Amino acid sequence: MSGPGVTAPARPVDLSVRLGDLELANPVMPASGCFGPELAELVPVHRLGAVVTKTVFAQARPGNRAHRLGESAHGMLNSVGIPSRGVHGFARTDLPAYQRLGAPVIVSVGGLSEGEYWRVTEELAGTEHAAIEVNVSCPNLERGGVTLGSDVGAVRRVVAGVVARTDVPVLVKLSPDLATIDAAARAAQEAGAAAVTVCNSFPGLAVAPETRRATLGNGTGGLSGPAIKPLALRLVWQAAQAVTIPVVGCGGIATAHDVAEFLVAGASAVQIGTATFARPFVMTEIVRELPALAARLGVTRLTDLVGTLSF
Ligand code: SIN
Repeated sequence: MSGPGVTAPARPVDLSVRLGDLELANPVMPASGCFGPELAELVPVHRLGAVVTKTVFAQARPGNRAHRLGESAHGMLNSVGIPSRGVHGFARTDLPAYQRLGAPVIVSVGGLSEGEYWRVTEELAGTEHAAIEVNVSCPNLERGGVTLGSDVGAVRRVVAGVVARTDVPVLVKLSPDLATIDAAARAAQEAGAAAVTVCNSFPGLAVAPETRRATLGNGTGGLSGPAIKPLALRLVWQAAQAVTIPVVGCGGIATAHDVAEFLVAGASAVQIGTATFARPFVMTEIVRELPALAARLGVTRLTDLVGTLSF
């Protein structure tokens, strides 16, 4: 067992978590787009609670022009623009590679219109996957970072349509729009979602004064990493007050202690993104460290931490 000040627990700790009908051995999974099947040669991915795929669209798309990534103080700014093989190529090539990883596969579904989400879901119906995560919050599909996820009515319609077209639990990855997070979370729940993921990256901008240009090819991008952790924690806490379905926390998580912070704030599970770029092993290290941390925090079931925040 590793980690400063962390000792092995005297009794086994139950790390399991339920997201609707989806049972996970532990609460740790990658954020969509941050971890591909190729990393299975380096990382024992089967030890994760689940894997989440890159978002898939109906048609093939190239993604945004370079530069797509940039560093920021304590964070990363991306404008990848969701390159996709399209749902047929995904089902033929990518999905089998994810399935071979040995962890439950959550397929991230995207769209440029409400109907595109539904079409992708229909095309996935004959394939093997444990759940769907509806990505209504990519900040990089439009200039300026406007997402469909800022429109609560659209979130409700998209999710209801996806739920009607699949038998697997549906998670909804929400935009970090501070003004609408509780309304959007409630709309997702009312439309039949099994869980909400809070949250995607925050729309941001990096500027090169020498050239008078934005440093990212698409102009704006999404900020992620430790810089957004307090913002994401607050949104998780706010969303968890608004719904009875589980919240999956996402935003700047890099250690087992960060995971515990999100659980106490109201998350039942977590997604890890930016930290995996610097340290691909970070997720499995965290899974290894969680039992000792839980014991130190006085719980034998990790879920006993969920939503225990007081002021
Ligand atoms: C991207 O590919 O631009 C990021 C994906 C996302 O934020 O949903």
